[in-house]
Amino acid sequence: MSALRARSARIMIDGEKLSQELATLATFSDARPPAVTRIVFSDADLEARGYVKGLCTDAGLVVREDAVGNTFARWSGERPEEAAVGTGSHIDAIPNAGRFDGTVGVLGGLEAIRALKRSGFAPQRPIELLIFTSEEPTRFGIGCLGSRLLSGSRDASVDEKLKDKGGLSLGDMRKAAGFTGDLKQVPLSRGDYEGFVELHIEQGPLLEREQRDIGVVTAIAAPASLRISVEGQGGHAGGVVMADRRDALCAASEIILAVESAAKSSGSLDTVATTGVCDVFPSAVNSIPSRVHLEIDLRDIEEQRRESVFRSMGRSCQEIAERRSINIRTEILNADAPGECAAHIVEAIERACRANQFRFQRLVSRAYHDSLFMSRIAPTGMIFIPCRGGVSHRPDEYASPEAISRGTLILAQTLAELASR
Ligand code: GLV
Ligand code: MN
Ligand code: MN
Repeated sequence: MSALRARSARIMIDGEKLSQELATLATFSDARPPAVTRIVFSDADLEARGYVKGLCTDAGLVVREDAVGNTFARWSGERPEEAAVGTGSHIDAIPNAGRFDGTVGVLGGLEAIRALKRSGFAPQRPIELLIFTSEEPTRFGIGCLGSRLLSGSRDASVDEKLKDKGGLSLGDMRKAAGFTGDLKQVPLSRGDYEGFVELHIEQGPLLEREQRDIGVVTAIAAPASLRISVEGQGGHAGGVVMADRRDALCAASEIILAVESAAKSSGSLDTVATTGVCDVFPSAVNSIPSRVHLEIDLRDIEEQRRESVFRSMGRSCQEIAERRSINIRTEILNADAPGECAAHIVEAIERACRANQFRFQRLVSRAYHDSLFMSRIAPTGMIFIPCRGGVSHRPDEYASPEAISRGTLILAQTLAELASR
C-alpha cells in the first residue's frame, strides 16, 4: 500500500486506494478516455453520484441530498448537534476535461475522513463531506449552482429562470434526475458550519514552478459570465451582395476581439476574459449567419477593475451594433464578488504543512470554486496541490498520487484541528 503517514499523528493516507477511486470515477464519462465529460444531471453524472454515495456509505457516513442534488455525507462526532466542519468539491466535469478537477476534493475529502477514522480520532463536532451540484457552468451557463443556492446567493426563482440550450429548465431537469424537493429548503444558515475547507488542484503553474507541495489560498477571484445574442439577417451566400449584408457572425467576431482587447488593456495580468461558446445559426456554408450566441467568462482579483472592463465591452457592443445595423442583446448571468479565506483556517493549513515539513506558499485562486460561496456562510479555506504544467480543463490534466496524498493529509489534519474546537 502506498501510504503517507503524518509526522505528528497516526493519520495515514491510503494513496493507492484514492488513486484507484479517482480512476474509477473517471470511467463515468461521456467522452473517450483520457477525456472526461460529465455534465450535471446526465446519466454519467447520476452514475458517478451513485458510485461516490456508495463509497460514503461504506465509510460509515450518513448521506442526505437536497433539492438541487447537493450531497452531504456526515460523520456525527461526539457532539452531533454542534456546527459541522465541511469539506468537499464537485464531480461534474466540463466537456473534454480531465479527471482531477473537483474530484480530488471529493474523494480526497472522503479519504481524509476515512484516515481520521482509522487513526482513532474522535471529532468533537461533525465532519461532513459535501458534493456540490454543477460547479461547472456547462448546462445552465452559471457556475457553482449548488453552493450558490446553499449560500442563499441565488433564490428559488432559478428553478424556472435557468434553462439549458434545449430550453429545459433547472426545475424540469433536477426533478427528472430524482431531486424533487423544494428549492426554498436548500439555503443553509451562517452557523451551520464551523468551517469549510476545499482541496483542489491548482489549475495554474505556480506551485510546480516554485516546487511547492501545497498552496494555501488566501482569496478567490471575482468571476462573471454573460451571454450575448447577436441578431442580423440571414440570406443566400451567393445572392446577397456584400454591401447589403447584416452578417451576425461578422459582428460576433468583432465582439470576441473587443472582449480580448478590453481584458488586455485593463493594465493587470489578473484580468482574464474568454469567449468560450460561439453558436452560429443556421451554420450552413452557403447561408449568411443570421444569429450567433456567445458566452463570455470574465474574471479579476479586483471587482472594480472587472466592472470597468465590463463597461468597455458594453461600449464596444453598442458601437458594433450601430455600425453594422445588428441587434446585440447582453445578459449578465452572474457577476460575483471575490471571496476571502478565513485567517484562522489559512493558519491551520500552514501549521499542518509545517508539522509535515511540506513546502508551501500562499496564493490567490484565479479559478472559482464552491468555496467562493461557502465563504459567504462559513469561515473557509482552500488547499491547492500542484498539477502538471498548470494544465486543467483538458484531458491531459494530471496530479501525481504523491501530490494528492500530501494534499489529503494536510486536509485531514486541518479538519481534525477545526473539529476539535
Ligand atoms: C471552474 O471550473 C472555473 O472555471 O474556474
Ligand atoms: Mn473546472
Ligand atoms: Mn473545480
